[in-house]
Amino acid sequence: MRKPLTILIALATTMFAGATLADPARDAILAKFAAEAKAADPGFTGFSAARGGAFFRASQTGGSAETPSCTSCHGAAPQDAGKTRANKAIAPMAVSKTPDRFTDSDKVAQWFDRNCKGVAGRVCTPLEKGDFITFMAGQ
Ligand code: HEC
Repeated sequence: MRKPLTILIALATTMFAGATLADPARDAILAKFAAEAKAADPGFTGFSAARGGAFFRASQTGGSAETPSCTSCHGAAPQDAGKTRANKAIAPMAVSKTPDRFTDSDKVAQWFDRNCKGVAGRVCTPLEKGDFITFMAGQ
C-alpha cells in the first residue's frame, strides 16, 4: 500500500507546483537562496525562469576562455547530456531528465562555486543561483 500513496503524494506535489517539478530538498535550497536574495536586495520579488535561461546561455568574460558559458559543458539544451573538457558525460541539467538535480545542498554549493568562477571569474549571486534552479526545474 505504501507505493501508490507515495506516487499520489508525488503527483499532488507536482500539480501544486504547476509546470515546475517540486521536491522538498530542492524547495529548501531555493528558499535559502530566496532569503539571501532578499537580504541583498529588499526589492527582490521572486526568481525568474526566463532570467535563469538567459543566464544559462549567456557568454561571459572573466573566467576561463575555454568555458565562456554554462552551455560550454552542460550543452546548449538542458534536456541533453553535456560533457566535461575531459569528454566525460554530464547528465542533463533539466530536472525532468535528471530528477535528483539540485537536491543536495553541498553539491549545489560546491558546483555553483566552481562553475561560476570558471565561467564568469566570480561567485554567482543568490539571485542568479535561484533563477538558474528555477529555470532547470521547469525544463
Ligand atoms: C567546465 C565544465 C562546466 C561548466 C563550464 C559549467 N559546469 Fe556546471 N557542472 C559541471 C560538472 C562536471 C558538474 C558535476 C557533474 C554532474 O552534476 O552531473 C556540474 C554540476 C553543476 C551543478 C550541480 C547540479 C546538481 O545536481 O546539484 C550546478 C548547480 C552547476 N553545475 C551549475 C553551473 C552553472 C550555473 C554554470 C554556468 C555559470 C555551469 N555549471 C558551467 C561542469 C561544468
